[in-house]
Amino acid sequence: MNEEAIETQESTQQPSSSPSSESATLEDNQFRVLDVPRDRGLLVADVVTVFSVDGKLCATGARCTHMGGPLQEGTLDGHVLTCPWHGAQFDVRTGEVLRGPATRPLDVYPVLVTGEIGELDAG
Ligand code: FES
Repeated sequence: MNEEAIETQESTQQPSSSPSSESATLEDNQFRVLDVPRDRGLLVADVVTVFSVDGKLCATGARCTHMGGPLQEGTLDGHVLTCPWHGAQFDVRTGEVLRGPATRPLDVYPVLVTGEIGELDAG
């Protein structure tokens, strides 16, 4: 068997017991773990933003508690998220405000990871 035949054969194989991540249909509250950027957030279902901190996933509300800035466009440095609109900072692990002008913490949500798929419980 030549290499081209082997590649074709491998690329058409599908796992029999679980759907591949490419073909699996995600629910509204699910996302692919590999889609979460290292320095920003991933917006999921338009209401939650997921961040990766030291290999652990954290989920917060999608909008800043100051004036609703889009947190997936903020910058993440370690666990500190800076809002893109007025620079408020939050700890994405707890939602705590670290710097104003925001005064109210972010809501935080549990993230369940099964293989390559993350799932939110946003209540
Ligand atoms: S909207 Fe986030 S700091 Fe103002």
